[in-house]
Amino acid sequence: MIGKDIKFAKKLLEEGKLVAIPTETVYGLAANALDIQAVIQIFEVKNRPTFDPLIVHTHSLEKIKDLVLNIPKKAILLAEKLMPAPLTLLLPKKNIIPDLVTSGLPDVAIRIPNHQIALELLKNLDFPLAAPSANPFGYVSPTSAIHVEQQLGHKIPYILDGGNCEIGIESTIIGFQTDIPTVYRMGGISIEIIEKIIGKVQIQTHSSSNPKAAGMLESHYAPKKQLILGNIEEMLDIYKDHKLGILSFQKDFQQKNQIILSKKGNLAQAAQHLFAALRTFDSFDIDFILAELVPDLDLGRAINDRLKRANWKK
Ligand code: TXA
Ligand code: MG
Repeated sequence: MIGKDIKFAKKLLEEGKLVAIPTETVYGLAANALDIQAVIQIFEVKNRPTFDPLIVHTHSLEKIKDLVLNIPKKAILLAEKLMPAPLTLLLPKKNIIPDLVTSGLPDVAIRIPNHQIALELLKNLDFPLAAPSANPFGYVSPTSAIHVEQQLGHKIPYILDGGNCEIGIESTIIGFQTDIPTVYRMGGISIEIIEKIIGKVQIQTHSSSNPKAAGMLESHYAPKKQLILGNIEEMLDIYKDHKLGILSFQKDFQQKNQIILSKKGNLAQAAQHLFAALRTFDSFDIDFILAELVPDLDLGRAINDRLKRANWKK
């Protein structure tokens, strides 16, 4: 059931049930992060392997301090300057966070979502929420309540509707285990913004064996239709005998099944539209989605990262 009743969502969560919640990045599948029985259901409903840890959501830096052993200076700087934001910090967890939430890792992933409804819900709860993206494992993340309903609606009691997600791409994940912090997933806060605040970071977003983040798996965030990345003009010729969908950044290729991410060539707008576009192609009668990379800067780096993982021809 989809609705806007924050009190009802709160009641369900207090009973140890799951609720899909809106955030500025993508919708999350939330449960009481301190209740193991509640958290187990997240893995079941998503069909997610338990070696893939969850992000914990709370509403203030003070609350983060209750959940972690310490916060390195650079993490404090980022939190103070940016949060609430599409940014997830990896910080050494206190025992209060169940090992199941972090898949046994010593660090917990924590963020403060920049979404009014999510923040209001979190302020009214006396526990943080563990919430992965509200999609079956490996599929594209949902950016509207309807997206969640289509795939998980029959498995969860409530979807809290907060409209379309403004950022549209998941949070950036950053860890502070070494002097130079490491970005493990590019997302809604760009590397450029992060480096302005804390200086150089290293980027480690690929890992084929034992990935630190499942978002690091080479094939992830993928639609069911086969997406092929390249030069659209050339591919239109190569695949001319097939039924095609075209996913372009800015250019109009005058094709029937075409989605342009941002006619103005705006990267933030392209990010906002990306996942909904991939879902739309899955509903079209096409053989392939022909797609192109966007300019590789700011949010474009996160968009390109998702497109490469969705790419069928590695
Ligand atoms: O924007 C977002 O981050 C959304 C919204 C709902 O907050 N959440 C999200 O969660 O994208 P999920 O579970 O789909 O992706 C979280 C990623 C996973 O790839 C997971 O492996 C990684 O975060 N992660 C979680 N805890 C971690 C930890 N302790 N160390 C390293 N990576 C971690
Ligand atoms: Mg996910």
